[in-house]
Amino acid sequence: MNFQLTEEQKAVQMAARDFARNELLPGVIERDEHQKFPKEQIKKLGELGFLGMMVDPKYGGSGMDSVSYVLAMEEISKIDASTSVCMSVNNSLVCWGLETFCNEEQKQKYLTPLASGQALGAFLLSEPEAGSDATSQRTTAEDKGDYYLLNGTKNWITNGSSADYYLVIAQTYPDKKHKGINALIVHKDWPGVTVGAKENKLGIRGSDTHSIMFQDVKVPKENRIGEDGFGFTFAMKVLAGGRIGIAAQALGIASGAYELALKYSKERKAFGTEISNHQAVAFKLADMATAIEGARLMVIKAAWTKDQGQDYTLSASMAKLYASEIAQWVTNEAVQIHGGYGYVKEFHVERLMRDAKITQIYEGTSEVQKIVISRTVLK
Ligand code: CAA
Repeated sequence: MNFQLTEEQKAVQMAARDFARNELLPGVIERDEHQKFPKEQIKKLGELGFLGMMVDPKYGGSGMDSVSYVLAMEEISKIDASTSVCMSVNNSLVCWGLETFCNEEQKQKYLTPLASGQALGAFLLSEPEAGSDATSQRTTAEDKGDYYLLNGTKNWITNGSSADYYLVIAQTYPDKKHKGINALIVHKDWPGVTVGAKENKLGIRGSDTHSIMFQDVKVPKENRIGEDGFGFTFAMKVLAGGRIGIAAQALGIASGAYELALKYSKERKAFGTEISNHQAVAFKLADMATAIEGARLMVIKAAWTKDQGQDYTLSASMAKLYASEIAQWVTNEAVQIHGGYGYVKEFHVERLMRDAKITQIYEGTSEVQKIVISRTVLK
């Protein structure tokens, strides 16, 4: 078994690390405080090929493997999880979904600008009353012959106001339940599309999370993804890959907080010596490093499984469950090691602790991951 990264993977990791330190670190506290979307930074990420990392270069992507993607996600998330969620949604949910399930015409029209960073995408599944229970879609896409008439409200939409294109999951045949759902490509600037107020969040405050309302939006039939009624399967397949991205985000938040705590523990003195010389702190660091190593192995294994063309649903959910749980705990320990300094913004760990929480909620709560995992292990 080979645990070595390739030269190309190491180069991607370094490029993402440099970008995070040089472009994201300055201003990250201010963006968090003022809920400012990292517009310029996202534009640069797109120019560097980080928004369509796994997409074929013939559609404007970087043609990289999923392992490279999670390495980049970890590095970006160490510094700025508000930026990395935007990157994750565009790469995993939007671009991967379009490349895997769209026809050639749709790929030329939508995938190419989205993968090359000229446009940004969002994925619209959650609703006020359909979060974990994703089959209960209330948004309707009524079949009107050559178009669908879209009505309803979507909630908690990452890139809600910044995206150019939305992938919208909506019910066409309510009596068919999840088999009557479609996935539609919708332009944000079409008549009848309204972007609701920005959510004022605990963490990832730089990302723009909105409700999106549709009122009698006419969506041409050619904007449906896949066969009639394929929408729910589309959403589930796309989310399995998305969970690898969020697992990598959680890993990055944890490792970012750990690295800060490690450095601080070697500088800060108490009781006559650096605090890292106290076993109370050294043992915390040992536990944090061990948990992070476990999460990293799981995240890379999930990405590798996807690269091998094998079923990655289980490994993705396990990686997300574990990485998000340890991110919660590791960031909390990092604040504890910093003491009072950890509780103020300048030391970054309080932000990472707040950011960690969302990784247990979006793209399927920890409980949803346990549904997926338990169903597989009990089969
Ligand atoms: N691939 C393909 N098909 C799948 C699938 C997968 N991974 N998972 C489920 N399905 C299919 C099932 O086979 C089933 O089809 P059949 O009836 O034909 O067999 C159908 O989907 C319904 O599946 P279930 O019966 O398992 O459905 P359920 O109601 O019991 O729910 C669930 C399953 C796992 C809880 C699912 O609803 C779920 O994943 N919920 C969470 C949704 C979620 O992750 N939302 C995140 C929003 S996006 C986001 O957060 C982005 C962001 O902003 C960062």
